[in-house]
Amino acid sequence: MSKTIGLISGDGIGPEITEATLLVLKEVAPDFKYIDLDLGGVAIDKTGSPFPDETKAKLKEVDAVLMAAIGGPQYDNLPRDKRPETGLLALRKELQTFANIRPARVFDSLANLSSLKPEIVRGTDLVVVRELTGGIYFGQPSSNDGNRALNTMVYEKSEVTRIAHVAFCLARKRSKRLCSVDKSNVLNVSQLWRDAVIEVSKDYPDVELSHMYVDNAAMQLIKDPKQFDVIVTSNLFGDILSDESAMLTGSIGLLPSASTGDGSLPGLYEPVHGSAPDIAGQGLANPIAMVLSAAMMLRLSFDMSKEAAILEAAVEAVLAQGILTGDLGGTAKTKDVSEALVVEVKLALTNA
Ligand SMILES: NC(=O)c1ccc[n+]([C@@H]2O[C@H](COP(=O)([O-])OP(=O)(O)OC[C@H]3O[C@@H](n4cnc5c(N)ncnc54)[C@H](O)[C@@H]3O)[C@@H](O)[C@H]2O)c1
Repeated sequence: MSKTIGLISGDGIGPEITEATLLVLKEVAPDFKYIDLDLGGVAIDKTGSPFPDETKAKLKEVDAVLMAAIGGPQYDNLPRDKRPETGLLALRKELQTFANIRPARVFDSLANLSSLKPEIVRGTDLVVVRELTGGIYFGQPSSNDGNRALNTMVYEKSEVTRIAHVAFCLARKRSKRLCSVDKSNVLNVSQLWRDAVIEVSKDYPDVELSHMYVDNAAMQLIKDPKQFDVIVTSNLFGDILSDESAMLTGSIGLLPSASTGDGSLPGLYEPVHGSAPDIAGQGLANPIAMVLSAAMMLRLSFDMSKEAAILEAAVEAVLAQGILTGDLGGTAKTKDVSEALVVEVKLALTNA
């Protein structure tokens, strides 16, 4: 399949994990073409802008965007609207990504890295689908006069419906179970959320829908995370629950993410972690979160589930072999991990 990928190598460890990821990705998708896109610090250095017009223009030529990470301490003193993070927010806005998809999977061989007991987390494999562009973070009015502060939680039914479709479609590709998290016993907005999700569920009779209040969901994630498969929730609740879920795994270097819209614009795929300036340039970075982000791109943007599964199985095998970078307690270098992944992918392709 020939697709064009917008590639953001970014800052810090970004170029190192990008090189490692491409090495592996090229094995399962040899026909992909790549267009380099400048974003964040590297774009500031070249053009003065964290999201240059040239990057914006090139987005029209790509089918998906695969990003490493951006940012670094050298940009911390810039005004807020000139900082690398502003570039990422502008990119997400440009791509109209209203759905943030964050898997949290505990690899069997690494269950001891979690701060919870291994027997609680082993087997956890869940995804949080968070609404990203609505809710209390954006609702108006919003004010603070020093004596009284106000935020507004607001959702249009159409905003709930479209994120619910994303979550049901994802659940359909997994174990066909979806849990919608809200606070409908207290919040009108959550009642609307629940009603809209139930209405959408009629289009997906093969997916089992359940509902959970957010306070209970926060407890259940710690008590018995294995009970969840796909979780769909609003911006505020998703912000908290996706970070809580991520920490079940015990390592930031393994966590991928996707930000998608209605499918008419390219999806954005990126690791959850940042540019790790403390280890940049030393060949020590763990490339796995970016490799798994590439696997999400294959599955969600291009329906290449077989190739995505090969990448994911390779990751599992390499971790089980104990080829671990420093963040996982090992001594392997970025290159050791990518080379081991290539061996596993080649083996899977030969046996396929
Ligand atoms: N989406 C993004 O691009 C993104 C996300 C978060 C932070 N940032 C930016 O990244 C910079 C650094 O932020 P931070 O230090 O708070 O978070 P960070 O995620 O970059 O690093 C936190 C810790 O995790 C380690 N780490 C992260 N990714 C790793 C990997 N792949 N392999 C091995 N170790 C890894 C780092 O070495 C560090 O010790 C900041 O400028 C921040 O704004 C960018």
